[in-house]
Amino acid sequence: MDTADPASIEAAARTVLVEHPDLDVLIAMAGIMRAEDWTDPAGSRATAEATVTTNLLGPIRLIAAFMEHLLAQPSATIMTVSSGLAFVPLRPTPTYNATKAAIHMLSESLRLQLAGTSVEVLELIPPAVRTDLMPGLATRESAMPLEDFVDEVMSLLEERPEATEIRVRRVELLRGAEARGDYPGVVAALNGSDLPAPA
Ligand SMILES: NC(=O)c1ccc[n+]([C@@H]2O[C@H](COP(=O)([O-])OP(=O)(O)OC[C@H]3O[C@@H](n4cnc5c(N)ncnc54)[C@H](OP(=O)(O)O)[C@@H]3O)[C@@H](O)[C@H]2O)c1
Repeated sequence: MDTADPASIEAAARTVLVEHPDLDVLIAMAGIMRAEDWTDPAGSRATAEATVTTNLLGPIRLIAAFMEHLLAQPSATIMTVSSGLAFVPLRPTPTYNATKAAIHMLSESLRLQLAGTSVEVLELIPPAVRTDLMPGLATRESAMPLEDFVDEVMSLLEERPEATEIRVRRVELLRGAEARGDYPGVVAALNGSDLPAPA
């Protein structure tokens, strides 16, 4: 499906639920991460709107499309995917950071509303991981190897079934910065690293 297209989500949900009537997990994983330069707002606006459509409206529309079905299951899970950048901003990607912060709060709020139902809300909070999300990320030394990330996530899912957030060790620096009181230092450290500057 194209998660930026509400009609595509609706059509895919109908097909999936016919073929898999006992489906009990929705993972809203699809996302894009594109650099913006807000000294050129005309150029940045289209990127920002596409980012909101895919990263925020996409999961919202997916959850809406599957919610009735999931609520009818004896137990079900919605996994959202935010980012360490929901908690500490990366300079080149303002709207990406904002959509991930919104996914975090959406997850927190849905969990409150769905308490007492059969549906749990689980938030996956990845650190930088070597994937094709951004140019150069797949080979970036400072990003976590994908296999290591997957292994640690699967271990956490098995070992901590009560968790509401899935956080590998590498993301704790960002996730806990504000609570620890070292937010300004973490913002400076993150944005002084080898990450790409806006064009
Ligand atoms: N890698 C990281 O460092 C990192 C860190 C924090 C959070 N995350 C989050 O993790 C999730 C997965 O990203 P990734 O790192 O695995 O990046 P990725 O390798 O680029 O994967 C993103 C996936 O999303 C799909 N996608 C994008 N737009 C879509 C659309 N409109 N409709 C359907 N599918 C769409 C892509 O499909 P196509 O290949 O067909 O385009 C691709 O399979 C994202 O939500 C990302 O924000 C990643």
